[in-house]
Amino acid sequence: MDETTEDIEIRLLLEALLRKYHYDFRGYSMASMTRRLRQAREHFGEPTISRLQDRALHDPGMLPKLISFLTVQVSDFFRDPGYFRAIRESVVPHLKTYPSLKVWVAGCSAGEELYSLAILFREEGLEERTIFYGTDISPEALAKAEAGVYDLGRVPAFTENHRASGGKSSLSDYYTAAYGAAVFDRSLRKRAVFSDHSLVTDAVFAEVQLVSCRNVLIYFDRDLQDRAVGLFKDSLSRKGFLGLGSKESLRFSAHADAFAEFVRAERIYQKRGGA
Ligand SMILES: C[S@@+](CC[C@H](N)C(=O)[O-])C[C@H]1O[C@@H](n2cnc3c(N)ncnc32)[C@H](O)[C@@H]1O
Repeated sequence: MDETTEDIEIRLLLEALLRKYHYDFRGYSMASMTRRLRQAREHFGEPTISRLQDRALHDPGMLPKLISFLTVQVSDFFRDPGYFRAIRESVVPHLKTYPSLKVWVAGCSAGEELYSLAILFREEGLEERTIFYGTDISPEALAKAEAGVYDLGRVPAFTENHRASGGKSSLSDYYTAAYGAAVFDRSLRKRAVFSDHSLVTDAVFAEVQLVSCRNVLIYFDRDLQDRAVGLFKDSLSRKGFLGLGSKESLRFSAHADAFAEFVRAERIYQKRGGA
């Protein structure tokens, strides 16, 4: 099919974001980029994507907002509880054999997934030996993750998810309610490091025993997915675990042979010994 004018404008805008700000969205699924840029164009009140590009190039202040439009920030505490149950029941017994642990939550959004793991690790007695890395490309999401403050209206769903994941404590032990917000306990963050890291352009930064990367790869094309899984493979220690969650899979990945299925339904993999 011929490229439309809008397709051309989108590719030019993505090129501009890369050249000026080093954000590389070129390998994201075109359908989702188109949808998101249309929303951004409307939000910023511009008649065309080219005009949006003009603003993005000349106003660095709008960049974090534009990045928020280009990335999907939906998350929850203990989102997809079956995944956390599988981590708790099947992965944790292996992790307990390590004297120290590093966990990488790639595409951590506003911190919900990382705090869920921090709570789970506390319940399982692993917290004190663990460092958590939460990485994302969205500055707004990372700032929220650092703050650890969420809308109180979301908490009943978090609580229900926590219970369904096999939670051994009460979620209310971990936050204080104030002015419509749930402020999560700073102690959950004392072993967490949040940082800007792109699965598209950055390199491996630590050796870890568990990578949790859910609902991120779906936005990438096949080459980018392979790049990201290659990063996970290189950063995992021997026999380390990769959790992708039930919606994604390594089936078509160039690195599939490096991993064995560990909990099939939740797409939790274990890196093979020699890989
Ligand atoms: C739908 S959220 C997933 C949040 C969480 N992992 C979960 O499953 O609940 C997708 C996240 O991926 C992040 N993301 C998108 N592209 C990325 C990239 N190249 N590197 C790292 N994170 C990225 C987005 O900013 C967003 O926070």
